[in-house]
Amino acid sequence: MSETEPKTEGTARSSETTTGETDERIREEWSDYSFEGEAKLAVEDLDVHYGDDHALKGVSMDIPEESVTALIGPSGCGKSTFLRCLNRMNDRIKAASIDGSVKLDGEEIYQDGVDLVELRKAVGMVFQAPNPFPKSIRDNITYGPRKHGDLDTGLLARLTGRDDSEAADELVRRALEQAAIWDEVEDRLDDNAMGLSGGQQQRLCIARCLAVDPEVILMDEPASALDPVATSKIEDLIEELAEEYTVVVVTHNMQQAARISDQTAVFLTGGELVEYDDTDKIFEDPESQRVEDYVTGKFG
Ligand SMILES: Nc1ncnc2c1ncn2[C@@H]1O[C@H](COP(=O)(O)OP(=O)(O)O)[C@@H](O)[C@H]1O
Ligand SMILES: [Mg+2]
Repeated sequence: MSETEPKTEGTARSSETTTGETDERIREEWSDYSFEGEAKLAVEDLDVHYGDDHALKGVSMDIPEESVTALIGPSGCGKSTFLRCLNRMNDRIKAASIDGSVKLDGEEIYQDGVDLVELRKAVGMVFQAPNPFPKSIRDNITYGPRKHGDLDTGLLARLTGRDDSEAADELVRRALEQAAIWDEVEDRLDDNAMGLSGGQQQRLCIARCLAVDPEVILMDEPASALDPVATSKIEDLIEELAEEYTVVVVTHNMQQAARISDQTAVFLTGGELVEYDDTDKIFEDPESQRVEDYVTGKFG
């Protein structure tokens, strides 16, 4: 939780955005969300520029563990940028400069010496378009654990009397079961993943993410390329995953956010976090007039 002083009228920041009807001033307490327990991710004063473009402006947000946090807002408001900051994916974008703090379990991820491979293992990501490797279903799952060396030590095999292929089989099965796709692929694990439907490919990508044993799963519009049936499977899966993992999901589909998330953060054009609270509160009784206009479909 942020340790800022109690907010008053005077702390309101002016909003330069042209989105929505009102010339509303954002009040910091609208996004000062309090919950029980420690934050899994604590973001403070995060600013991102792409060259001269100020894409995120002073965003502070604490994300609770083992729940679904939805990020909503119109296109271009900085949702993907924010998500990519949570596992330092923006580091890969040359034009991006990032200021501020992001802590994972209280540890700053923006400091020298952070192992980015380990970070991205702990904070995995699933993208909008399913992107399986053009390899077998099995190899898609074992790729990460092999890369990280978890399958190749041979020690486990010697200690347990099992060979690596059994360890791999177990891991493949577990990840595919967790991603609710095992029943559909158990008979064709050696087939190329590119032959799966879009919805199956996306669940495979989620399984691939789970196979390296993450703590946080970031999803950027994971169902927006899928048909309604495949979408509803992904939505069910997200809710299940939140029993064990911290899920942060970007969606432009407000009904989806309302259905699957525990808390919702609303970004509006200009890269500002306007309001962040329990999902019911955001959809039924938001503080911000612009948020109300947005969630009721008056603009966006
Ligand atoms: N790789 C990039 N290089 C330059 N500008 C970018 C890049 N990614 C995003 N932006 C800009 O940052 C702003 C926020 O984009 P983004 O985070 O993708 O928004 P959203 O996901 O909400 O649609 C936009 O103005 C966009 O053009
Ligand atoms: Mg985006």
